[in-house]
Amino acid sequence: MRVTVTAGDPLSTTTDLLALALWEDEALASPLADLIEPGDWTGKSKQTLLLYPRGVCPARRALLIGLGKRSSPDLDLVREVAAIATQRARELNVRQFAFALPVVPDQTPETIAAAITEGSLLGGYRFLEYKSNLKPEERHEVDELNLLAPDDAVEEATRGVARGGAVARGANLARDLANLPPNELTPARLAERARELATAFDLPITVLGPAEMREQGFGGILAVGQGSVNEPRLIAIDYGAQYTDAPTICLVGKGMTFDSGGISIKPAENMDAMKMDMSGAAAVLGALHAIAELRLPLHVVALIGAAENMPSGLAYRPGDILKTLSGKTIEVLNTDAEGRIVLADVLTYAQRYNPSAIIDLATLTGAISVALGPHAIGLFTNDDALAQRLLRAGETAGERAWQLPLWRPYREMVKSEIADVRNATGRQGGAITAAAFLNAFVGDYPWVHLDIAGTAWTDSKPKAYQPKGATGVGVRLLLQALRDWAQA
Ligand code: BES
Ligand code: MN
Ligand code: ZN
Repeated sequence: MRVTVTAGDPLSTTTDLLALALWEDEALASPLADLIEPGDWTGKSKQTLLLYPRGVCPARRALLIGLGKRSSPDLDLVREVAAIATQRARELNVRQFAFALPVVPDQTPETIAAAITEGSLLGGYRFLEYKSNLKPEERHEVDELNLLAPDDAVEEATRGVARGGAVARGANLARDLANLPPNELTPARLAERARELATAFDLPITVLGPAEMREQGFGGILAVGQGSVNEPRLIAIDYGAQYTDAPTICLVGKGMTFDSGGISIKPAENMDAMKMDMSGAAAVLGALHAIAELRLPLHVVALIGAAENMPSGLAYRPGDILKTLSGKTIEVLNTDAEGRIVLADVLTYAQRYNPSAIIDLATLTGAISVALGPHAIGLFTNDDALAQRLLRAGETAGERAWQLPLWRPYREMVKSEIADVRNATGRQGGAITAAAFLNAFVGDYPWVHLDIAGTAWTDSKPKAYQPKGATGVGVRLLLQALRDWAQA
């Protein structure tokens, strides 16, 4: 869907569908109010009413969507309202619809336009690749959203559309990757997708296979991947190396294309969900797509450890001791705690860029969804200033993160009797001990770990702009944080 901005008065605009998001106190003030039986539509939050203006204004249809009581809402309401309008436009089979830029207290035309664009593109997302018998009406896509802005807001709104569009396209790319089945998206295929992205933006990319990784000593990722015929890959894409005065930021993603648990195999129920165990990698690629589209003046290195965790006669086992790229040794106590082993190597690799920050995203632990549920990303850090950037960005972007501690007693818990660290510690504090394990591999570099295991997938439809399946979580947060950083 294309999103455009034009200067214009909604009530003199010709369109198949005019969407009007109105506050409760605007409900009766509109010239369209005469068309409504009083009380049928009051402008309550997300309440909709479809009208046929029949000449009252040139639009063939008008869709009123309530914003509720006028206040300073978070932009999520705007995103949702835009998603609702887009879905309704699709149901109505229109090709093009217009959306009048609402006035939102404490927000600029740019942020409102960005939120509408995000909501519309995220809400229009569907994953249909494997559906072979779609009815024509199910196949229908809306081609164009035309944002109507007052003359003096067109320029700002246009900037917002570019920004919101880039963020949403990045998040939808992440959703696509995480929704793909594990027979299709193997580590090698994930690397191919990464290569396509790199080629599209003319970025240098390095992909290491098992032979190169063996030479260089990636003992963690190799061990996790050795039980599968689908060999592991290390993926590195370099963006913005020409910005030599800008900070270097490494984005690290867990790319487990399928996590069966390995020899410590998972129960059958819901094991299929472990195709999404590469959502961290997906978010890193989605973010890089948006960063490149927006040409952010930063040096960003995307690093992904991709592997498949399978049981077999060749698989790594509980009891194994692994030598990682860092030289540190890991005692394996549970082959299902594989993400931290892969990340140990990638976090070590990241340090060769001498980064100002390392940010990793990983569906690391079931324990984080026990702790925080589906509404917050778990955040861990060794650097409170970096953490504050990300916590604040998450609030603004509508992807909230919540910090958990990494105090010394937790870090003690990952020590091993016979190796340097152990990969499992029992059930208590599971998300924290996993983060404490990662902490042992980041040296003194400023680092944030985002555990997205509770937020990367949804079986319900929690928000209008979030369909079932992969959420693309992390992309919006990262883009907000990096844009803020680039402007600072
Ligand atoms: N990929 C899983 C974590 C996960 C769970 C992601 C649910 C998404 C939804 C991870 O590799 C894992 O298996 N973690 C174990 C660690 C345990 C064996 C120490 C867990 O959380 O149970
Ligand atoms: Mn696992
Ligand atoms: Zn996993």
